[in-house]
Amino acid sequence: MAKKIVAGNWKMNTNLQEGVALAEGVNNALKGFKANCDVIIAVPFTHLASINAVIDQNLLGLGAENCADKKSGAYTGEVSASMVASTGAKYVILGHSERRQYYGETSETLKEKVALALANGLTPIFCIGEVLEQRENGTYLDVVKDQVESALFNLSAEDFGKIILAYEPVWAIGTGKTATADQAQEMHAHIRGLIAAKYGQSVADNCSILYGGSCKPTNAAELFAKKDVDGGLIGGASLDVESFMGIVKAF
Ligand code: PGA
Repeated sequence: MAKKIVAGNWKMNTNLQEGVALAEGVNNALKGFKANCDVIIAVPFTHLASINAVIDQNLLGLGAENCADKKSGAYTGEVSASMVASTGAKYVILGHSERRQYYGETSETLKEKVALALANGLTPIFCIGEVLEQRENGTYLDVVKDQVESALFNLSAEDFGKIILAYEPVWAIGTGKTATADQAQEMHAHIRGLIAAKYGQSVADNCSILYGGSCKPTNAAELFAKKDVDGGLIGGASLDVESFMGIVKAF
């Protein structure tokens, strides 16, 4: 069975002090409460080491929102997977649609990032998802198939087994327009089928596939009740302890 996971994606929000306070708030809320899922926060690079110092990663896993596609060297402004790992972070979001859209990330660069993340012991939370036009013209299943195959199907079964996937329809991100639970289930089952065909049923069954896109305390339970939805990647609603915990409690 795939692990159930609720992961926050803070994006470019909070300064260091606000971020540390938010992380402490989530960590405190998780104390004395037995969550029925793993809980993770992915935070800006600048916050990683400070947040690692104030949370208990047995309760709350810590991740970055990106890492470089190069190992080290003359790449001004970039942050490597090894640097991320050295802060104590255990996860890294890769291939978020905002990275693909605004920073030109392609399957080729993402392949490098995935390899470097794995080589440094980080668990990638790898994002895929179609844009509105592709949803409307009916190509969405093929689009996501191509995203998964082109960036991840070069991996060995062992390495693929370390990846968390997040299906995030781009039209649902930050728009308040959530995919219906049935739309999410259709895509998640499709993705699991692709994994089963490539790596076998047991690798597919063990792969956590999260849903992301306007997931909130009010719709999380319905989404998470679907057979192939193993949790959520939460943007806006992860910036507030109560709403994030509301989603954690949906499990
Ligand atoms: P949202 O973002 O929950 O604000 O829609 C999700 C994401 O982009 O990971």
